Amino acid sequence: GKSGYDHYMQKEINEQPRAIRDCIRGRLSELDRTVSVDELADVDRPSTVHFIACGTSYHASLYAARLFRDRGVPAMAFHASEYNADEVPLGDETLVVAVTQSGETADTLNALREANRAGAGTLAVTNVVGSSASREADHVLYIRAGPEISVAATKTFASQQVALSMLSIALTDTSSRASVEALRALPDQIQSILDESRAKEIAESYADAEAYFFIGRGYGAPVALEGALKMKEITYKHAEGFPGGELKHGPLALVGDQTPVIAIVNGKSKAEKMLGNIKEVEARSAPVIAVTDSVDEVESYVDHVLRVPRTKPRFMPVLANVQLQLLSYWVAHRLGRSIDKPRNLAKSVTVE
Ligand code: M6R
Repeated sequence: GKSGYDHYMQKEINEQPRAIRDCIRGRLSELDRTVSVDELADVDRPSTVHFIACGTSYHASLYAARLFRDRGVPAMAFHASEYNADEVPLGDETLVVAVTQSGETADTLNALREANRAGAGTLAVTNVVGSSASREADHVLYIRAGPEISVAATKTFASQQVALSMLSIALTDTSSRASVEALRALPDQIQSILDESRAKEIAESYADAEAYFFIGRGYGAPVALEGALKMKEITYKHAEGFPGGELKHGPLALVGDQTPVIAIVNGKSKAEKMLGNIKEVEARSAPVIAVTDSVDEVESYVDHVLRVPRTKPRFMPVLANVQLQLLSYWVAHRLGRSIDKPRNLAKSVTVE
């Protein structure tokens, strides 16, 4: 059941600290400052990584591809429905990683099968033990989020981000005490967001908005896309996410006082450019909600702040996403939407 929550989505958002604890259990090694994931023991260090996925899993893949690139391994994320292993050059040591919560998404399975036929090494990153993806890939990494009932993916996205972070450390032979410590701290940090978030009151005051724009940069960009997907999926409102730099290349034409802009402002690395974007939209009277770990630096520029604890910059978006989930949830709640079963959508899309 829903354990006292109004919706499975709310329950699953609140399960994230537990989901991440389960995901990292036994896989982080304090001693050698790295990860030790049993399932990956036989996976060779790839020369290139291709991620294939749909929807929310695609956003996790964009995030993961950046992690690999940062660790020196060329990596790209593809929409599974657009991936054609015959056309994308596969090097000798290309690893194709299918990221799929259900392990049953038709588009993802097709791309995985093509990669298998083309002779690439394949890995499934999935939540469902024994799923088609887990059986058909050469290797499997379970995210261990537990069953997700709500059509909107929430805890599984968090667990994917964490599992893929561990994957990026394990397969690039990089050791990082800072990352291991940051991963270990995530469950408590997410719990503090859940306990203290002001997303509900902010969501309620903007539930009548015409549209919502989500902007992020760097590691924040995939999470901006994810924030917008969640918003449209459960509220039926127009929402778009894009890198902050793209604003002036088109979307700015739509920005006005009825379009709140939700900006992920990562204090350490990208804050200045993001504050530039914030000024651009404020000049068009858009209300701005910043999700940030640097409240003091950002507060005076924006209408509202949703705070997240400090972490390594690459994990900040994992935390920011929790605020975005809550924002969408409370807008949908206010609008009386069918949150767990949005119209026209299915939990697992088994047709192409
Ligand atoms: O089971 P999968 O991860 O393969 O599912 C992929 C998408 O269908 C899924 O993430 C979808 O976008 C969610 N409903 C988003 O909340």
